[in-house]
Formats: sequence, C-alpha cells, structure tokens
Amino acid sequence: MRRVVVLGASGSIGQQALSLLAAYPDRFRLVGLSIHRQIDKILPWLSRLNPEWVAITDPESLHRASCSGLGFPLINKAELHERLETQPIDIVLNAIVGATGFWASWHTLRNPAPRLALANKETLVFGGQWLVNHRHRIIPVDSEHSALFQCLSGEQTSHVEKLILTASGGPFRGKKTNDLEQVAPEQALAHPVWRMGTRITIDSATLMNKALELIEAHWLFDIPPEQIEVWVHPQCIVHSLVLFRDGTLKAQLSLPDMRLPILYALSYPERLPFSEGRWQPFVSISNLAFEPVDEVTFPALRFAKEALRIGGAAPALLNAADEVAVDAFLRGQIPFLDIFRCLEWSLQQPEAHTHPDSPQTLEVIEQAFRLKVRKQFLETSHAGRK
Ligand SMILES: NC(=O)c1ccc[n+]([C@@H]2O[C@H](COP(=O)([O-])OP(=O)(O)OC[C@H]3O[C@@H](n4cnc5c(N)ncnc54)[C@H](OP(=O)(O)O)[C@@H]3O)[C@@H](O)[C@H]2O)c1
Repeated sequence: MRRVVVLGASGSIGQQALSLLAAYPDRFRLVGLSIHRQIDKILPWLSRLNPEWVAITDPESLHRASCSGLGFPLINKAELHERLETQPIDIVLNAIVGATGFWASWHTLRNPAPRLALANKETLVFGGQWLVNHRHRIIPVDSEHSALFQCLSGEQTSHVEKLILTASGGPFRGKKTNDLEQVAPEQALAHPVWRMGTRITIDSATLMNKALELIEAHWLFDIPPEQIEVWVHPQCIVHSLVLFRDGTLKAQLSLPDMRLPILYALSYPERLPFSEGRWQPFVSISNLAFEPVDEVTFPALRFAKEALRIGGAAPALLNAADEVAVDAFLRGQIPFLDIFRCLEWSLQQPEAHTHPDSPQTLEVIEQAFRLKVRKQFLETSHAGRK
C-alpha cells in the first residue's frame, strides 16, 4: 500500500488523481492533500478517502474552514511543508499551479523517502538547477514528459540525438498574428482536446506551455535545449518521441487522458490495469499528422531557449512574467498579444541576467519582478485605453 499526498487536490490534475486513488483502494492510501481556496471541490472525497490531514494554503480559506469544522485535522502552508519534509510518505503528487509549487517540491525532496510525481512544471522552470541531484526521484506527470520518460526507460542519455515534444497547437493553430489581435479569453480557453486549469489552457493557446515544457525536459532528462524539438500533432495521440543516434525513433501513444500519466507516475514501475484508456478500435486512427511550429506567430519557444541560454534567474522570470500576463489577459486587462510582448520584455530586464545562489534569493527577485511586470504592462495598458 503506497502512502500518497496529493497537492493541488482541488484542481484538474488533483481531482483526477483523487479519482484514481478511489479506484485503487488496495494500492494507495491518501495520507494528506492540499488545496488553496476551493474547499467545495474536496468535500465529496474526504469521507471516501479519509485523509490523515487537510492542508489549506490560503490563510483566509483556512480560517473559514476552521470555523465551520471540516471534521479532519487542518494545517497551514508552513505545517504542510514541515510534514512533506518529515512524514513517512511514499509519493507526493505535486499538482499545484504556478511557481509557488516549487516550494512543495523542494520540501518533498528534502525528505529522503518520497518519490515526487511532478505535474507542476513550474517547479523545474523556477528552480531546476537546485533539484537536478534528485532527478532519479522525480516521475513526470506532464503527458509529454511521461512519454519521454517511458521512451527513455532502459536507454542511455548519451545515445539520444533529439527529444521531440508534441504539441496540440491549441485553439489558434493556423492563425496569424493579425487574427490574434482581438481574441477574447473565452476563445483562448476553448482548447480543442484537453480540459485543464485556466493558466495551462491559455499557455497552450500561446504555446508558452510548450516553452515551459522544453525547459522542464531539459532539467528532467539532462538534454541541452538545442537537442529538444517541438512538433505540432493535433490529434494528441503521440505524446512525445525520442530520436536515438542510430536513427531509431521511439514514441509513446495513448488516448489524450491525463489519468494515464498520473496513474503511471503513481504505480511506476508497475503498470496497473486501466480499462478506460483504450482507443476502440485503435486501428480507426487513419491519420497521425505532424507539422512544424509557426514560431513567427507563436514565439514562445524562442523565449524558452533564450532563457536557458541566459541561465540563472531568466527561466523563473520568464515564467513569472507569463503568470502575471495570463492572469491580466483572463481579467480582460491586456490583449492576447501583450502576453508575447511581456515575455520578450522580461528577458531584456537586468534581473533576468542575475544568477541567484539559492531559491530563496531567487524568490525575492521573482516577487519584486512580478510587481515590475504589473507596473509596466497593466498600468501602461490602462493608460493607453483612457
Ligand atoms: N490540467 C492538465 O491536464 C495538466 C497537464 C499537464 C500538466 N499540468 C500542470 O499541472 C499543474 C496543475 O494544473 P491544473 O490544470 O490541475 O491547474 P488547476 O486546475 O488550476 O489547479 C491548480 C491547483 O493549485 C492550487 N493552487 C492555486 N494557487 C495556489 C497557491 N498560491 N498555493 C498553493 N496551491 C495553489 C489550486 O487550489 P484552489 O483550486 O483550491 O485555489 C488547485 O488545487 C500545473 O503546473 C500544470 O501546468 C496540468
């Protein structure tokens, strides 16, 4: 019986993870879970999965839940981090959204025991350089990285010529810059294949999600950015590929269902039976298409490679700029194309060219940088509309 903690349990990945824990009661025991604000999302699971504790990381929501009494021991963010470091846990699934999720990964990896099932790609984008020594304990949940992990199983990194990440292309595949000037948040949120949280859905529309994944793949598999490519594959059946130096191409195929990579990360190295992840019949896939990314309209991959070339704080600040810009776009405060302007601008700032010696120092720089991004883009954007 594996003792599992689910962080970000109220989100898209977190909810699917809880459904899997409920489906395999003889395999997994839910030790604890975390949410930020959305208590309602976990209420149906509490009596079913009976966790030992519930962490609520937003102080106001924790206060409200404490007053109403959930019937389970409630803990705050600091207590959560302490438990991640010290409790006997087999697997921590980190499905928190945003760079704030780095700290949960950091505390988990300070505990010598648990495996980190990592959905929070921002963990490695923010602080990959401080976590690489623990690589062997990280099992990716992102479908592309799970695919690469499976393709690389039993292989040597030195035999890899290229990692090829696939991308759906998002809702704006085939569009040009002119077409994107007026797009509304609802259009950008209409992903053709995946149902996900709002931030990753907008990132899929800008292809910034793929940019973050390129950085994630670099740290996870120790492959330089020039050996990582992205191919658009609208069917989302081939989740990624590895090209080896003898010309062999290995790919991982499955239905676009996040429960598969989540279950794989929870059960690895075993594969548990899962009857829903089938294409019936698989032969009906008559066309698997691949096309290059239009990097003129969608320049995010270029920014990711540039951020890795600069190193230091650059990837974290590129991500911070994106988090601020996506939030502002969703609130109707900036137009869609300002997200790209904001990302490009972020790498030109002096802070992006600093090399902090610890994640704590980076966090101070990153928090100040978020304020600078808001000042630059939100205030000028409002002023422009007056
Ligand atoms: N969704 C997917 O299919 C998918 C696929 C691959 C990778 N990922 C990655 O997985 C992560 C989660 O994605 P998602 O789509 O599941 O996101 P989501 O649906 O937005 O859920 C995010 C979770 O993070 C929590 N959270 C938000 N702000 C927080 C904070 N400041 N501190 C602590 N927790 C906070 C949320 O809590 P409340 O809801 O309670 O506020 C929620 O539980 C992201 O890094 C994403 O890139 C997602």
